[in-house]
Amino acid sequence: MDKLIINGGTRLKGEVKISGAKNAALPLIAACLLTEGCTTLSNIPTLRDIITIIKLMEKLGVEVKGKDILKIDASQVRSYRAPYELVKTMRASILVLGPLLARMGRAKVSLPGGCAIGPRPVNLHLKALESMGATIKLERGYIVAECKKLRGTRVYFDLSTVTGTENIMMAATLAQGTTVLENAAKEPEVEELASALKKMGAHIEGAGTDVITIEGVAHVHPIEHTIMPDRIEAGTYMVAAGITQGDITLLNCNVTHLNALIEKLEEIGLKITEKNGNLRVVGTTPFKSTDVKTLPYPGFPTDMQAQIMTLLCLVEGSSIVTETIFKDRFMHVGELRRLGADIRVEGNTAIVNGVKKLYGAPVMATDLRASASLVLAGLVAEGVTEVSRVYHLDRGYERMEVKLSQLGADIQRVKE
Ligand code: EPZ
Repeated sequence: MDKLIINGGTRLKGEVKISGAKNAALPLIAACLLTEGCTTLSNIPTLRDIITIIKLMEKLGVEVKGKDILKIDASQVRSYRAPYELVKTMRASILVLGPLLARMGRAKVSLPGGCAIGPRPVNLHLKALESMGATIKLERGYIVAECKKLRGTRVYFDLSTVTGTENIMMAATLAQGTTVLENAAKEPEVEELASALKKMGAHIEGAGTDVITIEGVAHVHPIEHTIMPDRIEAGTYMVAAGITQGDITLLNCNVTHLNALIEKLEEIGLKITEKNGNLRVVGTTPFKSTDVKTLPYPGFPTDMQAQIMTLLCLVEGSSIVTETIFKDRFMHVGELRRLGADIRVEGNTAIVNGVKKLYGAPVMATDLRASASLVLAGLVAEGVTEVSRVYHLDRGYERMEVKLSQLGADIQRVKE
């Protein structure tokens, strides 16, 4: 296992290119199961999660070639079984359930376990598929789903679920009749999937709103598509500019996906200016404490909660961070405390009292975004911070230590 050694104190300056969005690429790769032919996806980020879903697609008999440009040929889907050993490493593997069932009439997908940020149930995915006529059984840790032909129906999601919305949108694409998703997730990644499915020949209206209507079609065809930039990676580098009081220009980011984040960071005191698709972020202090509450899009993204908490650790005064999406998404708090942060957790709320300094120490990553928050803390902590178990980071950040080094950070990756 690798670890990152960071010597804090450098103000980051320069330009960073934002990679393709992990959470857009994953459903789009799964969507290729719906087509009999070769789809080309460009701007694919080099991440562990992408490698995992490619392995899963190959297990199903899909041919995948390339790296940042993927050629995915699903002409021959030879299996409908997504094995535990792959699904347990990435919850998003559940995204093959809908397209497999729609394409093959059956699917056997391991139940994703919980993970560091909460139990992560998939009951809403299963309830929706059952309402479309699927028989769903749970057998020895596997979801066994069968349905000759899914039927369009009205689906109401009790909770806004991103992959739930994506899974059912893909399943409904080849269903008989019309499916209406109510209380659908509005994340940009959902919209991106819908626009790719429409390019494939699907009939979908309303993506990006909380009511999405899908009129089933008999077939969809392969396409060429370029993945949108990763709004969470962009947000992470924006916080890096703030916390190091640096000056970073983010290249190739979609500013319209960042409104809640820009609003909050400007409230704290960062100077953010946009120029033809690039975002310049300057972290001139003094910063002001503020409150943050995570919400479904277009609210403040839960995937940026750990990162902004790190920034607030160094802002004078008290800030309240409320996590409304996941039950246990405060695993980074204990590690930040090891660096000298003053944070108290009460239920789904963290009270962050600003301190003058953080001090380098060995810390351990527990989940993807928590590991990003520890790297951000290390960039500014006095002395050396060692972040272990960086495989969590590699799931969602492309060459983070390289990008940070190019911005002037004193950071290196070593074998643990
Ligand atoms: C997606 O996860 C993202 N992953 C997550 O990003 C992100 O944090 C999350 O959406 C929220 O924005 C991908 O897109 C691959 P949900 P997802 O279903 O779809 C509950 C990252 O860091 N729920 O929107 O799994 C669930 O427990 C990852 O890149 C049910 O109860 O999240 C949670 O409390 C982490 N039953 C809430 O809904 C269900 O059937 C929202 O979860 C489904 C969800």
